[in-house]
Amino acid sequence: KHSIVIAGGGSTFTPGIIMMLLDNLDKFPIKEIKFYDNDEERQNTVADACRVIIKEKAPEIKFLATVDPEEAFSNIDFVMAHIRVGKYAMREKDEKIPLEHGVVGQETCGPGGIAYGMRSIGGVLELIEHMETFSPNAWMLNYSNPAAIVAEATRRLKPNAKVLNICDMPISIENLMASILELNSRKEMIVKYYGLNHFGWWTDIRDREGNDLMPKLKNHVKDKGYAIEFSESGQHVDDSWKSTFTKVKDVYALDPETMPNTYLKYYFYPQDEVEKANAEYTRANEVMDGREKHVFGECNRIAQANTSEGSTLEIDEHASYIVDLARAIAYNTQERMLLIVENNGAIENFDPTAMVEVPCIVGSQGPEPLTQGQIPRFQKSLMEQQVGVEKLVVEAWEEGSYQKLWQALTLSKTVPNARVAKELLDDLIEANQEYWPTL
Ligand code: G6P
Ligand code: MN
Repeated sequence: KHSIVIAGGGSTFTPGIIMMLLDNLDKFPIKEIKFYDNDEERQNTVADACRVIIKEKAPEIKFLATVDPEEAFSNIDFVMAHIRVGKYAMREKDEKIPLEHGVVGQETCGPGGIAYGMRSIGGVLELIEHMETFSPNAWMLNYSNPAAIVAEATRRLKPNAKVLNICDMPISIENLMASILELNSRKEMIVKYYGLNHFGWWTDIRDREGNDLMPKLKNHVKDKGYAIEFSESGQHVDDSWKSTFTKVKDVYALDPETMPNTYLKYYFYPQDEVEKANAEYTRANEVMDGREKHVFGECNRIAQANTSEGSTLEIDEHASYIVDLARAIAYNTQERMLLIVENNGAIENFDPTAMVEVPCIVGSQGPEPLTQGQIPRFQKSLMEQQVGVEKLVVEAWEEGSYQKLWQALTLSKTVPNARVAKELLDDLIEANQEYWPTL
């Protein structure tokens, strides 16, 4: 039986993940769950409810919520990390400051992602240090954002750390693909895929018998993107997400041989996104008024009533990839999963030191990337530009370099020119004083 610590215990995603873990105890038995956060009050709101839920479903599991790193990281096998340095208040700024300059305002793409990256690197490296100090044999499953920049920081600054960087977006998209293809599960698909995090393409999708599923998918995606008859529950059901899944058809049009990641819209059609955005009310506001209020409201109710009966919190089914990943390490399952790993030739004609998103076979020694061969000039050029941004951000963080961060912003395809990049940088520095190293 395994002991885990959830770093970012106060996250709005934590209750759904706990319920998912409790639902999977037959596959991944748990002895102890600990929550760790630096915001004690926020974490207690979530923990007080999760304590009740755990006691109801699996009273044998030990549970503890703490802000003390030694207590949190001692005697654990896995760190499940989903921290958000600066919380939603800073996400709101990441989205709104760029919009004031007529630039895409998004939490992980463009200037917002760069700002968020500058905040996250230190937080994630600190978690790794706690893990290495108190449980040196543990593995960290990291899905903290912005994953591309965070992953590059771990590669560069903690090269030997036992960290697996993973994003749920390809999983969400594969769930939609499976619905489009009328399959029972995304796991019926074997995929080839390459790219960077939030910046990739599927090149081949087959069923287990080897039948090509791309033609049927293409037929749907060319008109409808990944839009399906959405159910009203689960992740990504808000209208803003539905429009993202529809917009995929315009992204797909650039290269109808592949299936794109949804986020490429921010790079191909930035002006459409800016025009559509409401600079007064962004996704962060939607999340604060929606998910955050709902989850915290329900948590308070459950804690007070001392029962989860009648709760409207939902199991986060789609987060079961976390169990798959933990199982791959714990039981050497050799499962094929998309992870963010050092390229090392997996994409033949691409920087070997880039952190890329590719299929890997995951076992007890970690991930073994599968080679995806040569990629076309269009994707390769786009990826080179974007990887340059990500590497410059990490170098800027490490060296405290204003110059490199200005270069990173200038290089981002979402930013029109160096003057706008500089104006943006100065506003972002001002907003992030508490969080960024001094530049
Ligand atoms: C996807 C991405 C995540 C991102 C999330 C935002 O799942 O892969 O990286 O954090 O969307 O969702 P939200 O509901 O917070 O806008
Ligand atoms: Mn992601």
